[in-house]
Amino acid sequence: MADNNETKEGQTENSLIVRIMSELFGSPLNLALLAICGFLIYKIISSRRSTNSAPSKEPELPPLKKQDFTLEQLREYDGKGIDGRVLIAVNGKVFDVTRGKRFYGPGGPYGLFAGHDASRALATFSLGEDALKNEHDDLSDLNSMQMESIREWEMQFQEKYVYVGKLLKPGEQPTEYSDTEDEDKTETEKKTD
Ligand code: HEM
Repeated sequence: MADNNETKEGQTENSLIVRIMSELFGSPLNLALLAICGFLIYKIISSRRSTNSAPSKEPELPPLKKQDFTLEQLREYDGKGIDGRVLIAVNGKVFDVTRGKRFYGPGGPYGLFAGHDASRALATFSLGEDALKNEHDDLSDLNSMQMESIREWEMQFQEKYVYVGKLLKPGEQPTEYSDTEDEDKTETEKKTD
């Protein structure tokens, strides 16, 4: 009797695994999602390996002076410039993400965000080029959950990276930041480092 129950349990487990497998591999969409996940995991692991095996650490760049950016100015910081600095905008704020270069640098899993406003891509969990607009994106078509997700990403960037300034809307004038504001920023950096 006990044997019978065990056999039944084993069969139920097996059929559950079969169902999950056929669910995962049965639709082209799921297959595509699995492939994307696999590719991203591979990219993250290989970028981690190459950073670990690098013989000498790249010298840290001096912090940028606090300043606002137009989309065009932001684009110059895609990690391919002379100093390799990478900036990304999230929810109207520009962050220096150079220390996360293994994610955002050339060839990194999220390298397409470098020098761009990544808000829409992060909100919609998309790594497609169409989520990165070449002109100002007011995000007005996003729903409340997606906007909430952008705010969460913004908080995550705020904790991990250095805030440099605002992403300017078309026609918006840059703020004149005083040197004291810059010193304040450096103090905050010291705390987070
Ligand atoms: C579906 C497959 C995905 C997998 C398996 C995946 C996996 C991961 C993992 C493991 C990390 C943490 C890496 C670490 O801390 O060492 C990470 C970070 C991250 N992922 Fe993904 N991810 C996926 C999709 C996406 C998508 C679609 C986006 C954006 C549209 C995204 C954006 C990010 C960002 C911004 C980070 C943070 C990097 C940082 O700390 O600065 N991921 N991902």
